Amino acid sequence: MLSDSSPPPARLFARLNPGITLEPNAAGGLSAIFDGRTVAFGKFGADVTARAADFETGVAFDGDADAEISELVRRLALYGLVEYRLARAPGDPDLIVIEPQMRDYAPRMVEIDEDRALTLSRFAYMRRRGADLVLESPRASALFRLCDPSVTAMIAHLSAARNVRELRESADFPGVELLALLLDGQILFAPGRDADQGLRAAEGDGDLVLWDFHDLLFHTRSTNGRHANPTGGLYAHAHLAAPPPAIRPSWPGPAIDLTTLDTAPPSAFASLLRRRRSTRAFDERRPITLAEVARLLGGAARIISRERSPDEDEEGPELEVAPRPYPSGGASYELELYLAVDRCEGLARGFYHYDANRHALVLIETSEHWLAAMLEDAQFAMGAPGVPQVLVTMAARFSRVSWKYSGFAYALVLKHVGVLMQTLYLMATEMEIGACAIGVGDIDLFAKMTGLAFHVEGSVGQIVIGRGVQSDSTPVAD
Ligand SMILES: Cc1cc2nc3c(=O)[nH]c(=O)nc-3n(C[C@H](O)[C@H](O)[C@H](O)COP(=O)(O)O)c2cc1C
Repeated sequence: MLSDSSPPPARLFARLNPGITLEPNAAGGLSAIFDGRTVAFGKFGADVTARAADFETGVAFDGDADAEISELVRRLALYGLVEYRLARAPGDPDLIVIEPQMRDYAPRMVEIDEDRALTLSRFAYMRRRGADLVLESPRASALFRLCDPSVTAMIAHLSAARNVRELRESADFPGVELLALLLDGQILFAPGRDADQGLRAAEGDGDLVLWDFHDLLFHTRSTNGRHANPTGGLYAHAHLAAPPPAIRPSWPGPAIDLTTLDTAPPSAFASLLRRRRSTRAFDERRPITLAEVARLLGGAARIISRERSPDEDEEGPELEVAPRPYPSGGASYELELYLAVDRCEGLARGFYHYDANRHALVLIETSEHWLAAMLEDAQFAMGAPGVPQVLVTMAARFSRVSWKYSGFAYALVLKHVGVLMQTLYLMATEMEIGACAIGVGDIDLFAKMTGLAFHVEGSVGQIVIGRGVQSDSTPVAD
C-alpha cells in the first residue's frame, strides 16, 4: 500500500535514438529516417501514425501499451533505433535510460515479491562512458544509463542481498519498477534461500560458476552479437596519432648479423611457411571436395590418442586428455570445429560438427536464414566477391580450460585459436587449398544455430577454406 507521500510509480517510455525521425510516408505507413536512409516500417492505425512525432520524446511502453505501438517498437528495435526511458511522468527527468545491446531485447517489468532478496550479479559493473554513468554486464542484453543519483545509491546497497522492504527504507528509494527492469536484465538476481555467502554458485546457472568476471566480459565485448558498440577496422584514432611503424626501430646496441650464418637452402617446411598466403576469392566452378575437407581436418584437428593427465609425478586431479596434432595449454583441447558449408563437392550445403574422435561430420539442423547470415558475415569480413565455400568456426568448451586455470582461462583459449588457425592455414597451403582467417564472429548467431549458450560452448575463431581462383591444383575426390 503506497502512502500519500510515495512518489507515483515510474513508467517506461520507448523513444527514438538521437538523430532518428519517424514520419508518415506516401504509402500511408511510417518510415524512419536515419544515416541518410529511409526505411518503411509498414502501415499502422491512424492513431499510431498520428503519434509518430511522440516517439522523439517517448511513448508509453508499459504492460498496457497499445499492441500496435508495441509492434512498431519491436520493428524499430530490430534496426537498433530505439531506447527506453524510465520516468515518473512523460515530462519528468529520466531515472534510467535502457540502451538495447541485442536486437531482440525488449524490457519487461517482471513481478517482484517484496520479501524476496535480490543482489547484484557478480558480472555487473558501472563505469563512466563520456559524460554518462553506465551499468552493464556481459550477461545482459541491454545497458542501463544511470541518470539519477538515487539509482546509483540503490545499486550500491545491492552489493549484499536485500529484499524490497529493506530497500524501501532508504530515503530516496527510486522504486520497485527499476528493480524489476534490472532483474529482467540479469543485472540483479534472486539468490536461493540457502545460497552460499560468496554467491558465486548462486546465480542460477551452474555453467557460470567457472567464469571469471574479466573473461566473460572479454568474450562478449571482443566478438559480435551481444553488444551494440562499433567494431572493426574503423581507424577511430587515426586523427589522434600517426600509424605506428610497420617495423620496430632497432635498439642501439651491437647487432650480430645472422644472414651469413643462415646459408642452408630453406627446408620443405620453411618453404611451406613462405608459401602460405590468405585467399579470399574462390573458384565457383571447382569447389573444394569432401575428400579434401576430410584430409584437412584429419591432418590438423583429429584426435590422435587418449591419455590420462597429469603424469604420475605432477600434482592435481587426474583427467582424461585427447591430444590432437597441435599443442594446447594443459592439454585442454577445448576447441571444437563447426563447418558452415555453402559449396563442397560431395557434401550438401548445411551446418556440421566435426567429431574429432570419430573423424566424422555430423549434420546439425539449423535455419537456412542463420546459415546464410553466417556465410555472408564472413564474406563481408573478407571483402570477398562471394560467400566462402566452407567457413570453419572454432568453438570453445570453456569449462575444459576454466575448470583448471584461473585468471587467464579466456586468454589461453584465444592462444589456442591462433595455434589451430595456423595449423589449418599450413595444412591448407600444403594441399593447395585456399584459406583466410576471419577476425571476428557473431557469438549470438552461433548460439542460435547450435542451441548452445554463449558461455557454455561459444564461437571464438573462424577460418574460411575453399579452392582459390588462382589455384591450379587438381581437386582430390574419393
Ligand atoms: C587472427 C587473424 C584475423 C584475420 N582476420 C581477417 C579478416 O577478418 N578478414 C580478412 O580478409 N583477413 C583476415 N586475416 C588475414 C590477414 O589479413 C592476413 O593474414 C594478412 O594480411 C597477411 O597476409 P597473408 O595471410 O596473405 O600472408 C586475419 C588473419 C589473422 C591471423
